Amino acid sequence: MNDFIYSYPVKVYFGEKAAAKALPAELAKAGKTVMVAYGGGSVKRSGVYDEICGYLKEAGKEVVDFSGIMPNPTYKKVQEGAALVKEKGVDFILAVGGGSVIDCCKIIAAQAVTEKDIWEMEFKDHVYPAEFLPMGAIVTASGTGAEMNNGAVITNEETKEKAGVLGAYANFAVLDPEYTMSLPDRQVISGAFDTLSHSMETYLGSPRDVTLSDEIAEAVMRNVIRNIRVLLKDMKDKKARTELMWASAMAENGILKIGKVTDFQAHQIEHQLGAYTDCNHGQGLAVIHPVLYRHMYKDGVEQFARMAEQVWGIPSDGKTPEELAEAGIRALTEFIQEIGLPSTFTEMGLTDKSVLKKVADTCNLTAGCCKKLTREEVLEILEECW
Ligand code: NZQ
Ligand code: ZN
Repeated sequence: MNDFIYSYPVKVYFGEKAAAKALPAELAKAGKTVMVAYGGGSVKRSGVYDEICGYLKEAGKEVVDFSGIMPNPTYKKVQEGAALVKEKGVDFILAVGGGSVIDCCKIIAAQAVTEKDIWEMEFKDHVYPAEFLPMGAIVTASGTGAEMNNGAVITNEETKEKAGVLGAYANFAVLDPEYTMSLPDRQVISGAFDTLSHSMETYLGSPRDVTLSDEIAEAVMRNVIRNIRVLLKDMKDKKARTELMWASAMAENGILKIGKVTDFQAHQIEHQLGAYTDCNHGQGLAVIHPVLYRHMYKDGVEQFARMAEQVWGIPSDGKTPEELAEAGIRALTEFIQEIGLPSTFTEMGLTDKSVLKKVADTCNLTAGCCKKLTREEVLEILEECW
């Protein structure tokens, strides 16, 4: 295990009526003008928006509405939000939505307090913002775990990059499983797969000397697999939705990463696919993971074998580590089919194969904790995904 320093700034209010507990207490510390940021309108249809605005009214706040944050939020939308914050003198940002809304607000919170362009600052000057407008996150779609970290995934349409941008941590996060009950079934499953993906990508990071972090990751992965299967029988199972909501936060709140350098290569490929196709994040990952792992496992065979045994429950009896690793990847492939996620890009509805080369040429190649890929191999992987 690597040495580490650990501290965490996000206060989590989890469970039934969490907003009723969180908002009066937290809003008392916020200034007068609060921007309520949300997506395309699901929060209005579900009643969450009215409930939240009720708490704001009771707290005597002035509400500034910022709507229309799209899935795969754009840098242009960040700029629109930051301009509104400046124009209206907003004191506090309340993000109400899934990963897209929360991520967009993390960068609005940074952009709103500087005249410098955040994208240029981070990607050209390699300087990271240190001052932010305070914000809170109210989660209506779980899976990304965006509410507990300060990384935001933003699409820059001009440069054709979907990239991780560092922004604000939320001062607090509200996780009430009831708020996710209106999510379309397909989004529930793709979100849960995203959680599984975060855990796997962290698990395959280095070092792989079976740390406590890895054992916790195994528990998170087993939990996600089990609870997705519960949902296949009853999508409204509240207990399973509750477990998945906390698993989502656990996979991206830094705990699984303690003492490790992570390998998020599947994410890096999927993000660029998103930049060119605006595809659904969890679905893209479902297609990429098994193919990527077939290319990677020989370089991390012990950890792949351990994942097969500990996560997929495959007995080792007489198998070589390589055979066990292959069985684990087969189990993952079959699970993706079982839960109705796509196995190919064509199943996802992609039609323009020419994007694959662009994705291969532009995606980040990670440290390669398990295996350092070349651009040629990324293209091979993408073509196998078609
Ligand atoms: O826009 P509205 O109308 O709200 O509809 C949304 C959207 O269409 C809908 N939705 C959300 N809550 C709902 C609901 N519909 C009905 N009832 C509810 N309660 O769901 C759709 C998808 O929402 P979105 O926020 O895009 O989904 P998700 O939470 O999966 O976020 C995806 C984004 O997060 C990034 C992804 O790349 C993608 O841009 N990620 C962020 C991460 C992070 N910050 O840590 C990590 C992840 O790996 C990921 O990359
Ligand atoms: Zn993800």
